Amino acid sequence: MKAAIELALPAPGATHDLGRRLAALIRPGDVIALRGVLGAGKTELARALLQARAGAEIEVPSPSYTLVQDYRFPDLVIRHVDLYRIEDAAELTELGLDAPAAGEAWLIEWPERAEAALPADRLDLELRQGDAPDARIARLAAGPSWADRLAVLRRG
Ligand SMILES: Nc1ncnc2c1ncn2[C@@H]1O[C@H](COP(=O)(O)OP(=O)(O)O)[C@@H](O)[C@H]1O
Ligand SMILES: [Mg+2]
Repeated sequence: MKAAIELALPAPGATHDLGRRLAALIRPGDVIALRGVLGAGKTELARALLQARAGAEIEVPSPSYTLVQDYRFPDLVIRHVDLYRIEDAAELTELGLDAPAAGEAWLIEWPERAEAALPADRLDLELRQGDAPDARIARLAAGPSWADRLAVLRRG
């Protein structure tokens, strides 16, 4: 079974903090599957991660129409992907999403649209509603390459 942790995110700021912490941990080859219903905070988290990596409040639109938005950093290209409108896992190949290329990491919203086609070694990060309107709970389940980094996140 995959190692997993849960983190309380009582307000959007806590989700942004988690995004910033992930920005410091993400590296080439990574796949982060962002799960949760519409409005759960997947794009919010991705935006905080990308802005932290950029060191600036760069624009990070939801990729729901473009499907893929690429962000180029000196050491890494992060592909922010939204698979909501994907009909069939075969479309991933057309989008160049068979596996992260050298120097690439992926942040994928709606990964369940192409579940079987995703790399098995990944970080699954699910956001669900907490006990207040602005509260969320994050569940992080780590594939092998994320196990040590999950321990870092657990320590807070
Ligand atoms: N704790 C929280 N974490 C993240 N987003 C939150 C939180 N509380 C409220 N929100 C709001 O929920 C919405 C999440 O939207 P978005 O990130 O686009 O969702 P998704 O991409 O999962 O559909 C935003 O309007 C955000 O301000
Ligand atoms: Mg979104």
